[in-house]
Amino acid sequence: MGGILVSMEGIEKTFPGVHALKNCRFELRAGEVHALVGENGAGKSTLMKILTGVYHKDAGRILYKGQEVEIPNPRAAQDLGIAIIHQELNLMPHLTVAQNIFIGREPRKAGFILNDKQLNQQAQELLDKMNLDLDPRARVGDLTVAKQQMVEIVRALSFKSEVLIMDEPTSMLTETEIQELFRIIRELRKQGVGIVHISHRMEELKQISDRVTVLRDGQYIATVNTGDVTIDEIISMMVGKEIYETARSSQVDLDSEIILEVRNLNRGREIIDVNFELRRGEILGFAGLVGAGRTEVARAIFGADPVDSGEIYVHGQKVQIRSPHDAVRHGIGYLSEDRRRYGLLPTLDVSVNITAAALDSFTGIMGWLQRAQIQKVAQAQVDDLSIRTPSLEQRVRYLSGGNQQKVVMAKWLVRNCDILIFDEPTRGIDVGAKSEIYRLLNDLAESGKGIIMISSEMPEILRMSHRIIVMCEGQITGELAAAEATQERILQYATKRKSIARQ
Ligand SMILES: Nc1ncnc2c1ncn2[C@@H]1O[C@H](COP(=O)(O)OP(=O)(O)OP(=O)(O)O)[C@@H](O)[C@H]1O
Ligand SMILES: [Mg+2]
Repeated sequence: MGGILVSMEGIEKTFPGVHALKNCRFELRAGEVHALVGENGAGKSTLMKILTGVYHKDAGRILYKGQEVEIPNPRAAQDLGIAIIHQELNLMPHLTVAQNIFIGREPRKAGFILNDKQLNQQAQELLDKMNLDLDPRARVGDLTVAKQQMVEIVRALSFKSEVLIMDEPTSMLTETEIQELFRIIRELRKQGVGIVHISHRMEELKQISDRVTVLRDGQYIATVNTGDVTIDEIISMMVGKEIYETARSSQVDLDSEIILEVRNLNRGREIIDVNFELRRGEILGFAGLVGAGRTEVARAIFGADPVDSGEIYVHGQKVQIRSPHDAVRHGIGYLSEDRRRYGLLPTLDVSVNITAAALDSFTGIMGWLQRAQIQKVAQAQVDDLSIRTPSLEQRVRYLSGGNQQKVVMAKWLVRNCDILIFDEPTRGIDVGAKSEIYRLLNDLAESGKGIIMISSEMPEILRMSHRIIVMCEGQITGELAAAEATQERILQYATKRKSIARQ
């Protein structure tokens, strides 16, 4: 590790109703990967947004290479050589990959802005250097979330920064992509870049970080060498108490009613002849690599994308689902992987978001009655899921990432659907809240709902599912009962290409 690049001292930040940072501090050295951890809402993103000029601190000092600096806006941070990849994606969906990478600073040659062809070429060079399989000409809005995340990473790296902050870069990536990212991170570390890595995946810290700083409730708890502590020790510093893991879900009755049946589902090359059934009380895991087609299947069942062919039966009845509205009417809920695009109304408040999907059941004649009911239902969810918010009136965009995810979850729970599809339900959720969510999924299954859980976290799939379906390149390549499932067997199926040419 090299000299001290950044040091933040006595940082204070208050939002209306929230004391987000209290006398907080942080230090980053050149050539280190520094993990920043803490529960949802602990203040990690806020601290890094202050360092990158997104938020103004109320008090405190920032030293950059020993000099006190003011960072009034993101541009100032960029000029200093500090880059950030934000937790929420910040891309322009209607622009191409190359345009997004160079947005606001299109490369020039001899004073002229490069044309599209040259722009694409430069982007291609960057992508090649990082070994990423992306087309510079692709429209970002058409890419999967994981690919979009990679575009963000490439953009941040293209600044040749000395400090690189990554706010949960891996939450949308699968194991292979994470290893690829880590390869890039190690390369940058060797070149002396200081890297801040925010993640809720504890195993990652051990793999990639040199030091760890723990925040709790906006306060600095400690900075330790990663090699000197165990994951359990870090977790107890984060939560201030021991957490107990919940056991694997209970047995499911194999004769229980089939509540969802999908027959011969097809959509272009993304979904190829998908067949499966879901039983009452069952948690059906969907495993696979990113791009395997799991989200596409979920979206097709939910009516978010049209299909070429296929039949869907709910409680044995054939149903036509042409829109999410139809799906909800048939009791199907979908908690999407991209909460910004499909899950939330960020400018509206917590209570509206929680009750949005269920509004038709709140049509009281007297407005005040309806409102009181909404508040009551919303408050119950906030309590059940421990959603950290100053009030029900807080706009959802001001909640921390993990708490936003919990709001999406609450939204579907109040709708009381029989069939729930959870797409990466614990992405961005801290370890404590994760076990709460696992408990919740188990309770839902036990109460007779059918649950499809798409997850890229192998331990989660193995621990939660009664049965596991594995997909690869749009097809189901394997099915495993909980008892016979192992990480190796899932991976085998997940990489097994069925080379059957379609007729
Ligand atoms: N712009 C804002 N307006 C109001 N409150 C905010 C704003 N930004 C953050 N907060 C609040 O500040 C606290 C810290 O949030 P922050 O996003 O820093 O948490 P975090 O540690 O990044 O959590 P997560 O792991 O969920 O991403 C939270 O209570 C959050 O609701
Ligand atoms: Mg955050």
